[in-house]
Amino acid sequence: MGFKVAVVGATGNVGREMLNILEERGFPVDEVVALASRRSLGTEVSFGDKTLKAKVLDTYDFSDTDICLMSAGGNISKEWSPRIGKQGCVVIDNSSAFRYDQDVPLIVPEVNPDAIAGFSKKNIIANPNCSTAQLVVALKPLHDAATIKRVVVATYQSVSGAGKEGMDELFTQTRAVFVADPVEAKKFTKRIAFNVIPHIDVFMEDGYTKEEWKVMAETKKMLDPKIKLTATAVRVPVFIGHSEAVNIEFEKPITADEARDILREAPGCLVIDKREDGGYATPLDSAGEDATYISRIREDSTVDNGLSMWIVSDNLRKGAALNTVQIAELLVERGLISPKKKAA
Ligand SMILES: NC(=O)c1ccc[n+]([C@@H]2O[C@H](COP(=O)([O-])OP(=O)(O)OC[C@H]3O[C@@H](n4cnc5c(N)ncnc54)[C@H](OP(=O)(O)O)[C@@H]3O)[C@@H](O)[C@H]2O)c1
Repeated sequence: MGFKVAVVGATGNVGREMLNILEERGFPVDEVVALASRRSLGTEVSFGDKTLKAKVLDTYDFSDTDICLMSAGGNISKEWSPRIGKQGCVVIDNSSAFRYDQDVPLIVPEVNPDAIAGFSKKNIIANPNCSTAQLVVALKPLHDAATIKRVVVATYQSVSGAGKEGMDELFTQTRAVFVADPVEAKKFTKRIAFNVIPHIDVFMEDGYTKEEWKVMAETKKMLDPKIKLTATAVRVPVFIGHSEAVNIEFEKPITADEARDILREAPGCLVIDKREDGGYATPLDSAGEDATYISRIREDSTVDNGLSMWIVSDNLRKGAALNTVQIAELLVERGLISPKKKAA
């Protein structure tokens, strides 16, 4: 007997990837329902070799659905996730709406699987920001080995992190530049084609952006509140795959070779680190893949016990859809959920 799973935002970048990953990983489903806004009623999306027709979230009854993978933005989550949770359906929420709520576990299965136990307070589990997910997968084993004191990270985030509209804008602007048409910026604050923009999400009072704050707050919540972290989040003209240049200061000594060996054994990590032309991972290499790639591991002699590295992952997979499905798998593995509909 499998589960009834609803995907909210099934016509979006992350939602489509969720459907792919549920199928690829053989998640035990009896039925999958694709949900989106009224605009998409009847839109076809693929689930393996099946085609699902999108239904409308507003009129859907969740009472016999076991798991809802929620990926339609923060406002929709704020309105719907608590209601769906109250109907006895476990919501795994991709937005930032509940990540900082003390009664909602924020989970990366390779990092803090045991925190999932608290999910039943609201029946909501939060999925982290795309940049945080790949970062903590790499930091966790290093923290266990040498205790991280401080992290300085600069992100290079692809346009798919801003949804379908972000990808369309990079495509349209790039084409417009080539054919000498006027270039219009709508989704992003400045032109993204052939440019980089040091601004993601809104500005906060201290001058940081909300995206930068999220990486700090989520790393503390999942890994260790004692870790100090400062981030600069930058949008780059890449379709898929977020990259991060990371500098880490540890309490205990750790060499680049030791870090490489630890990361080679760590769940979810793939070290590609040859000190030669092309001996490192780029966002293009990560697109469509599950791993968090770690390259350019080297000692930073400007601080005690310092390392620098380059971390890359597919933001639509580990940064969103894959992590969500892994959380659903964790619920099943730990016997924390069972199908509402029993076999006849
Ligand atoms: N992209 C990433 O790297 C990433 C990473 C982590 C988390 N997230 C989060 O995942 C969520 C979705 O991101 P995305 O990149 O997939 O965005 P997207 O491509 O723009 O897709 C948005 C989805 O939400 C649906 N939607 C919008 N308004 C709705 C409504 N009123 N009722 C029901 N469905 C509605 C859309 O349906 P229609 O087609 O009908 O408009 C579409 O399916 C966001 O919360 C984002 O913050 C994204």
